[in-house]
Amino acid sequence: MLKQLKARKWNNTTVVCIILLIFFIYTIFPSNFATHYPYISKDDLISSLVVNNLPKSNDTQEFCKYQDLVRNNEYFYVSENIEKIHEPEDINAGGEFFPLDCQAVYRTAVIVPYRNRESQLETFLIYMHNYLRRQRIHYRIFVIEQNDSKPFNRAKLFNIGSVIAKRFNYNCMILHDVDLLPMYLGQLYGCTTLPRHMCAGVSDFRYNLLYKELFGGVVSITLDQFNQINGLSNLYEGWGGEDDDFFARLEATKIPICRFAPPFNIYYMLPHKKETPNSNRRNLLVNAVQRHRYEGLNTLNFKEKAVEIKTLFTRVLVDT
Ligand SMILES: *[C@@H]1O[C@H](CO)[C@@H](O)[C@H](O)[C@H]1NC(C)=O
Ligand SMILES: *[C@@H]1O[C@H](CO)[C@@H](O)[C@H](O)[C@H]1NC(C)=O
Repeated sequence: MLKQLKARKWNNTTVVCIILLIFFIYTIFPSNFATHYPYISKDDLISSLVVNNLPKSNDTQEFCKYQDLVRNNEYFYVSENIEKIHEPEDINAGGEFFPLDCQAVYRTAVIVPYRNRESQLETFLIYMHNYLRRQRIHYRIFVIEQNDSKPFNRAKLFNIGSVIAKRFNYNCMILHDVDLLPMYLGQLYGCTTLPRHMCAGVSDFRYNLLYKELFGGVVSITLDQFNQINGLSNLYEGWGGEDDDFFARLEATKIPICRFAPPFNIYYMLPHKKETPNSNRRNLLVNAVQRHRYEGLNTLNFKEKAVEIKTLFTRVLVDT
């Protein structure tokens, strides 16, 4: 009897060890934690994009070509592209660029919500101007800077960004965190027919998508779609929740999202301190769907303090 008991005890320990070993092996293979999601393949990538920069009827310039860019999907995140800006004189004031030797097919406002992260902004501007010019699209970088000392309101800054994009005649926006950099050149910065989650794989999350409904970091959306969902909620002060609210608005409006195939959607995340979470975010999320018609772009109010044309970007200084 005693012998049997001892034997069982030993067995239990072995079982626990084996389970731990299996768990350990499981965790060292990152793709085991990946959420699998449908994506647009390389071959369908260009046809999924909205052509939004048609030339005037008497303009005879040829369209720029994008096939090679997508086919090669060059790895771009190398030090020479991160550390210094190539031919800065080619960039127009306000951080705008369009190729001169062909007609760009895509025209995009890159909207960056911002406050007090100078060194990140510097890296972002250097890298993104190197990156986006190689794509041969027409773009302009807008930095929407919160100039008050209230908690950071990322979603509201995007709403403000959409007002500014419209004023500058853009109908495609890429809503972009300042700490995320695309690593492959084939992630074309245009709008897809459906809103697109562009950073499915982020370095900090071992390049895996955390959950299917994740719709933050870097996304593309047309101004029409943004208006259809009444923009984003203005109520999320501090970190977290606003992305899930964004997704809930799209779902409530029956607008699905899309993603490009890996590795087009791989991003590097610059190191940063963790922000103070918004403790009210879960309460707000509960009513996201009910609230979306009457709270958002149609209740947006803010104080525009300045629009400054900088060499590498257009700075919009606001009180939220
Ligand atoms: C196109 O036509 C308009 C009006 O006729 C004219 O003002 C403009 O300069 C023309 N553009 C080009 C590129 O020829
Ligand atoms: C607001 O902008 C001014 C001018 O750039 C700056 O001196 C000030 O520190 C900013 N305040 C906040 C809270 O960001």
